Amino acid sequence: MRSDAELLDHILNHIDNGTTDLGDEDWFEPVENYTSPLRFDAERRLMRRLPIPFCPVAALPNAGSYVARASAGVPLVVVRGLDGSIRAFRNACRHRGMQLADGSGCTKIFRCNYHGWAYRLDGRLEYVPHEHGFPELDKNSNGLVPVHEVEIRSGLVFVTQDEPVGLGALDSLPDLLTENQVLFDSSESVEDINWKLTAEGTLEGYHIKPTHPESFYPYGYDNLNVIETQGPNSRVCFPFRRIEKLRDAPRENLSLDRMVTLVHRIFPFTSINQLSQHCHVSFAEPESATRTRYFNYKFTLPKPNGSAATEEELARAKKDAAFLSDTGNQEDAKVVSDIQAAMSSGANTHYRFGRFESAIHHLHSNLARYLERLDEFEKSESFVKDLIS
Ligand code: FES
Ligand SMILES: [Fe+2]
Repeated sequence: MRSDAELLDHILNHIDNGTTDLGDEDWFEPVENYTSPLRFDAERRLMRRLPIPFCPVAALPNAGSYVARASAGVPLVVVRGLDGSIRAFRNACRHRGMQLADGSGCTKIFRCNYHGWAYRLDGRLEYVPHEHGFPELDKNSNGLVPVHEVEIRSGLVFVTQDEPVGLGALDSLPDLLTENQVLFDSSESVEDINWKLTAEGTLEGYHIKPTHPESFYPYGYDNLNVIETQGPNSRVCFPFRRIEKLRDAPRENLSLDRMVTLVHRIFPFTSINQLSQHCHVSFAEPESATRTRYFNYKFTLPKPNGSAATEEELARAKKDAAFLSDTGNQEDAKVVSDIQAAMSSGANTHYRFGRFESAIHHLHSNLARYLERLDEFEKSESFVKDLIS
C-alpha cells in the first residue's frame, strides 16, 4: 500500500489528467454465481476453512465480554477470558446441544438455560446439576468445543473454524483498526441480497456521479479512485475535492485522514470503510444465495498521535454516520436491491466488470481460486476417508 504522501501525489496526478486507476482487462462473472444454491453452499464451506473476521477486538473490552452469532451458519461464541485471552467456541452445550449465549454481553459463566450445565470462560465444564445422573461423564473432556484457531490481527478477531485451505485475508493484511478508535455503535441488519452485490457496490468509483449525484458527488470526483491490493484483500481510495488544498503541503508526516474515503475489503466477506469522520466495519454472514445478515460496528477515526477521541470528534463521527445512513447508503441499497430483483430476468448470463472495476475483479478471481482449492481439499479428504474405511 502507498504511504499517504505517495497516495496524495498519485491522486493529484489523476485529478490533473482526468484519469483513474485502470485494471488490465474485463472480468465476466456468471450470474449463476449469485443465484445457485450449490455455489452458495461452497462459499459457506469455504468460509469455515479460512480465517474470517468475526468481530472487532473492541467488542470484547473486559474479562467475560462475549459476542455470539452464526458464522457460515455455525453458531459460535467468542469470549475474553479471565486471563485476557480471546477464545472461540462452538455455541452448543455438551449435554444436548442447546446454544449457551445469545447476542453480546458480559458474563462470569455460561450457564445452559435447558438443564443448567455451566461452563467457565475458558470452556471448561464447571458444573452439572444432579451430577449422579451421569455416572460415566468425564467433565474434563466435555468442555465447550473450540474452533480450529483464533487470531487477533489489526484490531479484529479472526476465527478459522476448521482446518484452513490457505491464509486467506491473513496472507497479507493491511493495518486496520487501532486501539484509540472508540466503538460507538453496533447493530445487525438483514438484506434480501446476495452478499457479493453489496461488496461490489463499495469497490468502484465509476458509479459515484450517476448513483450519488447529490450525496457524494458534490464532495468527490466522477470516476476517480485508487485501487491497491494486498494478498486477496483490497483498498479503494475515493478522494474528496478538498484534497486539492494539500497540493503544496509538506509530504513529511502527511495524513490523508478526512481527505479520502478508504474502503478495505478483507477477503472476502468483511468491509472496513474509513469515511470522512467515522469508520464503519461490516461483517457479512450469507444466509442463502439471496439473503445476507450484516453485523455492523461504528468507530471514531484513528488518531495518528495515539490519543483518545475527544467528545467533539465522537459527536462528529455520530453525525457523519447518521448522514450516510440517510443518503448515500440508501442510494447504494436501492441499486443492489434492483439488481437482485432483475437477476431472474435472464437478460444477463454474466455481469461485466471493466477496467475501472478491477477491485471487484480481484475479489472474484481470488474467490474462484480459493473455491478451486476447497474443491481439491475436499476431494483429497474424501479420498483419504475412502482409503481408511
Ligand atoms: S442441553 Fe445444556 S444442560 Fe441440557
Ligand atoms: Fe455507492
